[in-house]
Amino acid sequence: MTTTRPASSEKEMHKKWIIRGERFIQAFYRLVQTVKIHQGSNPILMDCAKEFNNAVLQWCDEDDNLKVQVSRYRFYLQNEKLLYRKQFAGVINNALDFFERLGLHGLRFYMSINRIPPERVLAFGNLLNRAEQQDTPLEWLVEKFTEEDFPWIEIIHDIGTHLQGADRSRKETGRKNYSYLLASVKEVTKKLTSGQRAGLRKPVRMIQNMIDLMMVDEPLFLALSTVRIYDDYTYTHSVNVALLSMYLGKQIGISRSSLERLGICGLLHDMGKVEIPKQILNKPGKLTAEEFEVVKKHSINSVRLIVKIEASQDRKSKMLLPPFEHHLKYDLSGYPQSRRKKPLSLFGRIIAIADVYDALTSPRIYRLHAVSPDRVLELMLEKAEKDFDPILLKVFINMLGIYPIGTILQMDKGRLCIVIKTPNGIDAGARPHALMLVRDEQGEFKKGKVVDLSEKDPDTGNYRINIIKSLHPSVCGIHPARFLI
Ligand SMILES: [Fe+2]
Ligand SMILES: [Fe+2]
Repeated sequence: MTTTRPASSEKEMHKKWIIRGERFIQAFYRLVQTVKIHQGSNPILMDCAKEFNNAVLQWCDEDDNLKVQVSRYRFYLQNEKLLYRKQFAGVINNALDFFERLGLHGLRFYMSINRIPPERVLAFGNLLNRAEQQDTPLEWLVEKFTEEDFPWIEIIHDIGTHLQGADRSRKETGRKNYSYLLASVKEVTKKLTSGQRAGLRKPVRMIQNMIDLMMVDEPLFLALSTVRIYDDYTYTHSVNVALLSMYLGKQIGISRSSLERLGICGLLHDMGKVEIPKQILNKPGKLTAEEFEVVKKHSINSVRLIVKIEASQDRKSKMLLPPFEHHLKYDLSGYPQSRRKKPLSLFGRIIAIADVYDALTSPRIYRLHAVSPDRVLELMLEKAEKDFDPILLKVFINMLGIYPIGTILQMDKGRLCIVIKTPNGIDAGARPHALMLVRDEQGEFKKGKVVDLSEKDPDTGNYRINIIKSLHPSVCGIHPARFLI
């Protein structure tokens, strides 16, 4: 009789919590934006300051302060992840970007804010905006907070061990999953080629873990696909193709069980390459016609090996077509040729896109100049309709952005940065966020500040940061995964 009441009141409290969180972030972002536009005692400014105070105070009923932290592009209020409704996504992302540009992990607002005149709240908003223009925003901000009088605010310098722990452990899990997945495809391939029995239990479990990760942390998932292990090219490539294919599959709304099958097909698509002599596979320079004929056999070799896997006929039959088709082009040219005139399967078309993208962005012995990810996408777009399904390719480019995660950009004054976050949705064509790379005394690259490359100078309308060109990471000796994962 009484069981429904606590549940509904809990639901009610949860809803209130969400609304309070949304209200605070909205008030915060409105404050920093409004002080940019208005000055003096404009009533809009006064209104913003009051709303900000109230939005903080509604949190101080239970505690004497409000703790706001950022970790992996998420807000945490009083140590709890901020959940929000769809219509607040825009303002919340903008506020997150703002924290990120300042290099700010968090702020604590004390209840004494209720005695603070609106002018001081506005001064706080102004200070944050001025900090954004500095080379080292956070250090500048800390200095100003000490010089000027803001006893009601405190800068949180680290994200707290529990949040940091969650962040680190996710990265750690991602790294582990990647290497387990790599090991599992290696193991299956080696067993099958040496005549031993092999099943898919381990690879399937690893693919499932990867799908879980993709659902909670897309940037990390994409960052994992930038891993390159040169000694293990074929296997690294297989894992990356599996990840990119699943990510593309998710964008077009494929069900979870189908994503799992797509991941396995991606993982096994090049298995047949183990049967190609290494001197042909790694030959620097152009292959002879005979050598190319040998290479062309790998799609069918992959199918032959998949048939040997210990799994139900039904399961295996669903895994044969995409690896067979992965070098067939959208117009049905490519290889292996057959008399079939049916269009390629959806998974075959997805894997073909992920395959070419990963292969062209990986520096190989036979390719003297590695091509940067954005240039690869341009080259692929030129071949849409002929080589690739044009709609899927568009979705793929949209999901990766004009400068995909891991792209190295050269900016003016010879500065370098690495793309760490790409816009998506309606902003997909916008410029990304990047991490500045600074050389230390030993000439090694280390992390600098995060910059928003889409920012424009309000006076000139020009981008604040000029992008000169994109570079392949190998050209400057940078391993993107080191900075991303
Ligand atoms: Fe292949
Ligand atoms: Fe491949």
